[in-house]
Amino acid sequence: MTPTIVPEVTLSSCDMTMPVIGMGTSSYPKVDPETAKAAILEAIRAGYRHFDTAFIYGSEQDLGEAIAEAFRLGLVKSRSELFITTKLFASFAERDLVVPAINMSLRNLQLEYVDMYLIHWPFKFGKMVSSMPVEKGVLLPLDIKSVWEGMEECKRLGLARGIGVSNFTSEMLEDLLSIANIPPALNQLEVNPLWQLKKLREFCKAKGIHVTAYSPLGASGTRYGENKVLGTKVLQDIAKSKGKTTAQIALRWVYQQGVSLITKSSNKERMNQNIDIFGWSLTEEELDEISRLPQQKTIIFASIVGPHDVVRQIDAGL
Ligand code: A2P
Repeated sequence: MTPTIVPEVTLSSCDMTMPVIGMGTSSYPKVDPETAKAAILEAIRAGYRHFDTAFIYGSEQDLGEAIAEAFRLGLVKSRSELFITTKLFASFAERDLVVPAINMSLRNLQLEYVDMYLIHWPFKFGKMVSSMPVEKGVLLPLDIKSVWEGMEECKRLGLARGIGVSNFTSEMLEDLLSIANIPPALNQLEVNPLWQLKKLREFCKAKGIHVTAYSPLGASGTRYGENKVLGTKVLQDIAKSKGKTTAQIALRWVYQQGVSLITKSSNKERMNQNIDIFGWSLTEEELDEISRLPQQKTIIFASIVGPHDVVRQIDAGL
């Protein structure tokens, strides 16, 4: 089967392009390294070139091994064919800890640079944390000036081609933009038909910040998402009428919002399905019907990190 060519989006603030679909590598509980590596190689065979990881996922090493194997097998010829994103963990969210943190991620990934480095969460942990929720005193507000200086240093040193954020509210983006020498290229957020986040997306657009969706299927089948997005009748009916799957309708809806997306599947057939969302489109009527779906957020930080005021404020702004 010929691999699908995924379109690219231009990230205006850092003059680079990014494939609009990435493959996510987080899993809970974490899959074993061989399974993780096999899934990444399968994704490369299907045409995925954009991979999304994070220090806290524990998947950087598996992704690094899979990339090295993809080069050995000749599936990928040059580093520039790949787009690799990783994220700064909250325990390292301070100016002097950022460069050592990205260097640790690069060692895990066996790479000299990542294409995108994101601040994973808009809060900080006051110490190294290995399990969540965390107790009250550990969770601290982010000193955005301090941490962004570290992020800018990563770009200046050539360790990251682009820098950005994840889970940032409009207030936090305002703060960041007021001090940034290099503006954030993108904001990675939960976006799917049941969490459309229209206002925040419009804010990002007005500021030239691209939005990437995580959990575009509402983290289907996981402890967070159950089956809400894929179980939505409106999406199922549109899928039936177009001869597509419900997942493809949800992903295509995200793409038609001008939002790139990180999909996640360990199954070859679903990987192929999820990348096959080009060359057809949702009509205005279908988009309108989806825009009226009742909204329900999947990822609630207070239930993951702890019900602290800083986190509740973030949940309220996302
Ligand atoms: P699997 O790995 O068994 O395919 P999200 O991208 O919103 O985080 O959701 C990821 C979840 O959705 C994974 O559990 C994945 O399970 C499932 N999934 C991914 N693609 C599809 C698809 N095309 N149809 C049904 N479930 C899917």
